[in-house]
Amino acid sequence: MSDSVKLTYQNKTFEFPIVEGSENEKGIDIKTLRAQTGLITFDPGFKNTGSCNSGITFLNGEEGILRYRGYSIEELCEKASFIEVAFLLIFGELPTEKELALFNNEIREDSLVDEDLKSILKSFPKAAHPMGVLSSLTSGLIAFNPNSVDVESEAEMREAIIMLIAKFPILASWTHRKVKGLPLNYANTALSYVENVAHMMFKLPHQDFKPSPVLVGALNKLLILHADHEQNCSTSTVRIVGSSQAGLFASVSAGVSALWGPLHGGANQAVIEMLESIQADGGDTKKYMAKAKDKNDPFRLMGFGHRVYKNFDPRARIIKKAADEVLQELGINDPVLEIAKSLEQEALRDPYFIDRKLYPNVDFYSGIIYRALGIPTEMFTVMFALGRLPGWIAQWLEMRKNNEPIGRPRQIYTGKQNRSI
Ligand code: CMC
Repeated sequence: MSDSVKLTYQNKTFEFPIVEGSENEKGIDIKTLRAQTGLITFDPGFKNTGSCNSGITFLNGEEGILRYRGYSIEELCEKASFIEVAFLLIFGELPTEKELALFNNEIREDSLVDEDLKSILKSFPKAAHPMGVLSSLTSGLIAFNPNSVDVESEAEMREAIIMLIAKFPILASWTHRKVKGLPLNYANTALSYVENVAHMMFKLPHQDFKPSPVLVGALNKLLILHADHEQNCSTSTVRIVGSSQAGLFASVSAGVSALWGPLHGGANQAVIEMLESIQADGGDTKKYMAKAKDKNDPFRLMGFGHRVYKNFDPRARIIKKAADEVLQELGINDPVLEIAKSLEQEALRDPYFIDRKLYPNVDFYSGIIYRALGIPTEMFTVMFALGRLPGWIAQWLEMRKNNEPIGRPRQIYTGKQNRSI
């Protein structure tokens, strides 16, 4: 007989089956809990709640394992391009040479947006944060491509996916060009997807631009490392918005907003801002370590800690190595980076951080690389979004194909009881 869990409540015993994943992760299937017992579970932040079955990404936070469709993140970073990883996440297998060529061609063909989108961009003030602008422009794509997508139609789904992968980097680069007052660039079809990310952001009208191999290599790794991370805040947002049968673009636009927050993707920007303010305050890292540990002080060491990784963040290991290589290759000597190193060393020795299993996460080092590559701080989270796009698409598609019910948690009401005026 398969495993089950028994729950005793008001002298009655109820039985709930155990569900088991392909990597032996186990959960209690409580689908009938309320119907049987009248009880709900209470789990703020969903720390113990599995919201779906998923065959996309496997993550083991205790052992620091991250795999996309069964392939380790370490191997993918060494051997694959970002666009191959995108194909893998969305379609389930790495592409053959022919499939890859077709995929790249389709993306190139679709690398244009309606010129009228520029008027939406124009209406934002220059000081608008690029993540807010990106979320709005992604949503704006719907108005220019209003056909709803039948998820059962492979052709329609593919068309929507290609459209989004092709147009999203254009919109992302425009958020940067807008802040800088630069003319808006389009992709150069002679370049690869990752080269085009750099091209569209940095190419100036009066100068040649050839993305350096260091820049492209680092970007490729960073985008792959951010490509999916199972049911994180932004991905859960994409799935829950999509569960109301809202379209792909609307769901991804919501995902961009969720990613923006400093406890999620916005942490990479927050890390550099924190390091800069420590530097401006005299560079006393011990003072900031004390603040981070003081329960009366809201300050947190940005770039440390993770909901799932309680040993190390495998993405952080790869990025730390890449950061060291990039800094060495570019011969960069940055006092802010020295502060980062001191904080890292102090935190790794400190019982507060050791006891709570708080290690540097992906955002601690990604901000450092982006800064070294000359990417402006306010664009860091946009770079994260560019990487996360295939994950959002894959998770949205899986959710729709599995016909998941609309996401709608319950609550424990703690407000006033019935009363009259
Ligand atoms: N600095 C100081 N203390 C911390 C930190 C930190 N960065 N992170 C967690 N703690 C403490 C927290 O105060 C709590 O202490 P206590 O048990 O004494 O009350 C304990 O560690 C557990 O923290 P939590 O907030 O319950 O953990 P969580 O799983 O809810 O939060 C987190 C995870 C990532 C939101 C949190 O660690 C954090 O705020 N980190 C800083 C922001 C950051 O770097 N975010 C990027 C996450 S990785 C990128 C991504 O996937 O989005």
